[in-house]
Amino acid sequence: MAPLLSLLPPMVQCTKATPGCDATVHSPAPLPGDNAAMCFIRRARKARQTGFFGHPIHWRLGLAPLLLCRALPVTRNRQEGAMAHTPKPSEEARVSLVGAGPGDPDLLTVKALRCIQQADVILYDNLVSEAIRDLFPKDSTALFVGKSKHRHGIGQHRLNDLIVQLAQQGLQVCRLKGGDPFVFGRGSEEMLALHQAGIATEVVPGITAASGCTSYAGIPLTHRGLAQACTLVTGHGESELDLDWAGLARGNQTLVFYMGLSQLERISATLQRYGMAASTPAALIEQGCRPEQRLVTATLAELPLQAKQHGLASPTLIVIGEVVSLSAALAWFGAPSQTLPAALTA
Ligand SMILES: C[S@@+](CC[C@H](N)C(=O)[O-])C[C@H]1O[C@@H](n2cnc3c(N)ncnc32)[C@H](O)[C@@H]1O
Repeated sequence: MAPLLSLLPPMVQCTKATPGCDATVHSPAPLPGDNAAMCFIRRARKARQTGFFGHPIHWRLGLAPLLLCRALPVTRNRQEGAMAHTPKPSEEARVSLVGAGPGDPDLLTVKALRCIQQADVILYDNLVSEAIRDLFPKDSTALFVGKSKHRHGIGQHRLNDLIVQLAQQGLQVCRLKGGDPFVFGRGSEEMLALHQAGIATEVVPGITAASGCTSYAGIPLTHRGLAQACTLVTGHGESELDLDWAGLARGNQTLVFYMGLSQLERISATLQRYGMAASTPAALIEQGCRPEQRLVTATLAELPLQAKQHGLASPTLIVIGEVVSLSAALAWFGAPSQTLPAALTA
């Protein structure tokens, strides 16, 4: 275990381990591997003893299906039947690439929660909300492997190596990512590395930001007569965004840009240059599906200015298309939408 733990770079943060378990000590201080190993072994033993449904946390979570199981015996039997037919591969997988969804813990899937509960070690990134981290078992070992304002990420190659080596130690690894692991989440890169190392891996899909954040903002991705298609786009690019702008500028569709806040001016200007109307409704959703969610709506042309005036920061999703015009009528979550009067943007 000691050589394994020495792999952890200084920016990897351990949290929430058993009191007295030194697996929480951070690099660069040397990690006492024997204590960490004991922690992992205790966790594995406990998981074997209690299993998923034996864990007390499940009775505190308010999971609708589980509560229904308690209330309605007939439903419970059906529910248990469904559980019994969970596909087998998950039982063999050493690593689960798990989607945590956009932030609201109630949007975790039952399977995602089960993986979190049964893992020996959880590797999570910065999009995994605090409310979801609160669900980590108190005695689990959780390592932060994302980027933050003050910390560079550990790098994809080193992270791949870390996951492989944890799995090779016989540990059950939950690689927990915001949203869906296969949507702008680099989950496929991690899975390729795991497959190359011969490690059985499963994917647990999560609700991606495009779906979760728009729903919580009252914006349907499609709507008859307004949008017949939806395109998910990365706005991340060092210099030029290599995209089919002419295709994106065509009407009758909803565009959802991930990681696009820093490129917002360029996105707005380029879409207009390729023929999209300056008056096209557009929205910015910051911290979607969380209590802090903020929605800003404007026209495509006004959007960059609105982003500055509201001081929006990451994570923010950009939604462009006629469907945004429904957001006021369909609003249901959190604070009312904020639309600055056009006069303010003059
Ligand atoms: C690296 S991508 C990860 C996407 C993730 N795998 C998913 O399926 O949602 C990160 C970007 O997703 C968007 N995003 C993810 N979660 C969000 C949230 N809760 N609110 C707003 N935007 C979010 C933001 O555009 C952010 O910059």
